[in-house]
Formats: sequence, C-alpha cells, structure tokens
Amino acid sequence: MNNNIAMKIENLEKTFGKDESKVSVIKDANFSLNKGEFVALVAPSGAGKTTLLMMLGCVLEPTNGKITIGDEVVYNNKWLIKDDRELRRKKIGFIFQAHYLIPFLNVEENITLLPYQNQEKPEIVKPRVKEIMDYLDMSDKMKNMPSELSGGQNQRIAIARALANNPDIILADEPTAALDKERAISVVEMLKKITREHNVTIIMVTHDDRLLPYCDKILTIKDKKIDIKENKNDTI
Ligand SMILES: Nc1ncnc2c1ncn2[C@@H]1O[C@H](COP(=O)(O)OP(=O)(O)OP(=O)(O)O)[C@@H](O)[C@H]1O
Ligand SMILES: [Mg+2]
Repeated sequence: MNNNIAMKIENLEKTFGKDESKVSVIKDANFSLNKGEFVALVAPSGAGKTTLLMMLGCVLEPTNGKITIGDEVVYNNKWLIKDDRELRRKKIGFIFQAHYLIPFLNVEENITLLPYQNQEKPEIVKPRVKEIMDYLDMSDKMKNMPSELSGGQNQRIAIARALANNPDIILADEPTAALDKERAISVVEMLKKITREHNVTIIMVTHDDRLLPYCDKILTIKDKKIDIKENKNDTI
C-alpha cells in the first residue's frame, strides 16, 4: 500500500437516466492523486466536471467503479461506508463558486459550524480556526457578517470553512469564477500554499488558463474519458 495516495479512482463510470433518455457522462476513469497535490480539472461546459467532483466527494453515486480515499475503499460498485455524511464532514472540504456562507451567521459561526457538528471541542477548534484566519489574513473579520465582506474576502472565508475540519481533500468547483484576475491569482496562490503546508490534496475546477501554471497535475475530460498529466509548466 502506498501511503502517499490521497485518492484512487478505478473504472469509474457515470450515466444519468434510463433506456432512451440514458446519458453517459464519465466512462472508465482511472487515476490517482497524491497527498499534497494541487490538481486542476479543466473541460468544456457540460463535460462532467461537477459530476466527477460530486462523485469524488461521495455526494453523487457513481454507476460503476471504485473510489478509494486514503486507505479506505468508499465505493466499489456500491457505497461501502456506513455513513457517507460523516466521511464528507471529516475528510473532505468543499468550496463552491458561489460561496454559500450562511447569511445570518457571522464569519466565526460559519467557519465553526461543521467542526462543532462533528462534536469537536471548542478548545481544539478555536486555536485551529485562529491559525487558519491568521494565515488567510482575515482574523479581524471574525465577528463580521458575510454581507459586510467583499467577494474576495467571502471566498477566503469559504476556504477557511473548508479547512476548518482538517480535511485530507478539498474539492473546489470554480472557486475563483466570481473574482477579478488579481484576486483569482491570490486565492490560487493561497490554495497552493495550503496543499504544501497542510499536505491537503486540492482538486480545482477552472476555466481560467492563467491559473494552470500553479497546478501540479491537470485532469481533463474528453469524449467522456479522463486524461491526467503532470503539469510540465508548473513554474510557480
Ligand atoms: N442529475 C442529472 N440528471 C441528468 N443529467 C445530468 C444530471 N446532472 C448532470 N447531468 C448532465 O451531465 C452532463 C455533465 O454535467 P456537469 O454539471 O457535470 O458539467 P460541468 O462540466 O460541470 O459543466 P459546467 O462547466 O457548465 O459547470 C451534462 O450533460 C448534464 O446535463
Ligand atoms: Mg459544473
């Protein structure tokens, strides 16, 4: 067993619908990602990026195949985990394009919601959240409401929230789509730093070619097949 593997996908397949309305989206996907890797997922609209991300996050059931997260086989033609919600809460963080902060909770409450739901103790959660917020340069915004922050600041809070329960994997669906170029680059620099310093694997959907030099690997979907390649231009 290779302890450096964060996620392994074998013969993964997804079709929607039945009979005449059957649509095949992902066919025979095989790849593995290491711990601490920053991976871009790039493909045209409708190619299946969100579908793939949702299967990797154990939110959407595949049609066939095998998904291993860390050393746990979570899916092998059926779910093998007793509690997929628990797995998601503990091992996987999500960042979405629209950041989905809860508008009537302040920043601190938004970030700590999940760890407290996981029955983690405040004396453990508080210092961790403080460290993340210092790191993201957002510590002075703990008591603010999401509506009092800019788009870029809200996106940083969404990153803080994804990190707050120490996930092994973060799945980010176009996390920079709502940001201007400079803010998009600063968010991506931050995500890359997180992969290095926290040994977290991040898969980021993006349509923005300027962000690709930051990534270690690039996943693409072409004709329903997934291709993975090392990013030779990983210069940053
Ligand atoms: N629940 C569903 N039922 C039926 N078809 C679906 C469902 N979800 C997605 N699809 C189809 O699967 C294909 C892939 O959709 P998906 O949302 O994964 O694309 P995407 O690559 O994320 O696109 P975008 O860049 O526009 O977000 C599309 O043809 C879509 O219509
Ligand atoms: Mg999508």
